[in-house]
Amino acid sequence: MARRKIGVIGGGFVGSTTAQRLAEKELGDVILVDILEGMPQGKALDLVQAGPICGYDSNVQGANDYSSLEGAELVVITAGMPRKPGMDRSDLLRVNGEIQQKVVSGIMEVAPSAMLIIVSNPLDVMCFVAHQVSGLPKNKVVGMAGVLDTARYSAFLAMELGCSVRDIQAMVLGGHGDSMVPLTSTASVSGIPVSQLISEQRLEELVDRTRHGGAEIVNLLKTGSAYYAPSAAAVSMAESILLDQKRVMPCCSLLTGQYGIEDTWVGVPVILGSDGVEKILEVELSASEREALQSSAASVLAGQAEVAQMISIA
Ligand code: LAC
Repeated sequence: MARRKIGVIGGGFVGSTTAQRLAEKELGDVILVDILEGMPQGKALDLVQAGPICGYDSNVQGANDYSSLEGAELVVITAGMPRKPGMDRSDLLRVNGEIQQKVVSGIMEVAPSAMLIIVSNPLDVMCFVAHQVSGLPKNKVVGMAGVLDTARYSAFLAMELGCSVRDIQAMVLGGHGDSMVPLTSTASVSGIPVSQLISEQRLEELVDRTRHGGAEIVNLLKTGSAYYAPSAAAVSMAESILLDQKRVMPCCSLLTGQYGIEDTWVGVPVILGSDGVEKILEVELSASEREALQSSAASVLAGQAEVAQMISIA
């Protein structure tokens, strides 16, 4: 049986660490695509040469176009520009909307049934662009953000409690931005509601730190954004899809009435398996969480309308 082929678009820190993790887990052979000549080839060769030391046989190949993605089952898209000084949100929306449009049409020409995991920002709106441009059924496009935001929330909860991260069960819903919704009603440690162990005020501070988790790292790094946790999050989703693990993860998915939200890409708990988003779970939220989710979705919907007009997609 031929090995599975997995594409990673964008050879920056998020893309290259994603390729590394995919190779280390031997989830398939990896094609790393970037427009910079030589860069994806160089990183791919470096990853192949790490194989004998780390003990993996995955092949990693670099490319500057999409042709080698032919037959890819899954493609992780990290391509996009980071926000530069002087750029506002809508400038970024246009630039990255255009990049996403180009990338997705390129992939679809050679791998028309590939599943897409979107990582590019602004995340939720980029999922909308990828879905519109690809024409794929909605279950085959999924966005990575909830897993990352949840990992940040869980790490902060574990730090606060001085306990293992393994024992935290938490979830962050909504858009990937300041309006995200870290759930406090269902967060627990080994089944004990965290509200029994952490004061309401302190919990609110951890929720706030989670909401600004990406910016906290940008401010520390000064020249870029996070990549270890983002790539780990994307690869855990890829693994659940490729191995049909059917894990329950918060992912950006198209809502069609769930949580009272229509036609909007937003983070909700889903079952992720070989069919992509196999099911959206509608869980009971507190009134304020439901309201926060709906208002987060409203800002994504406005972004969807804005980008649709900018890059002329329906
Ligand atoms: C983050 C940005 C990069 O959350 O989306 O780290």
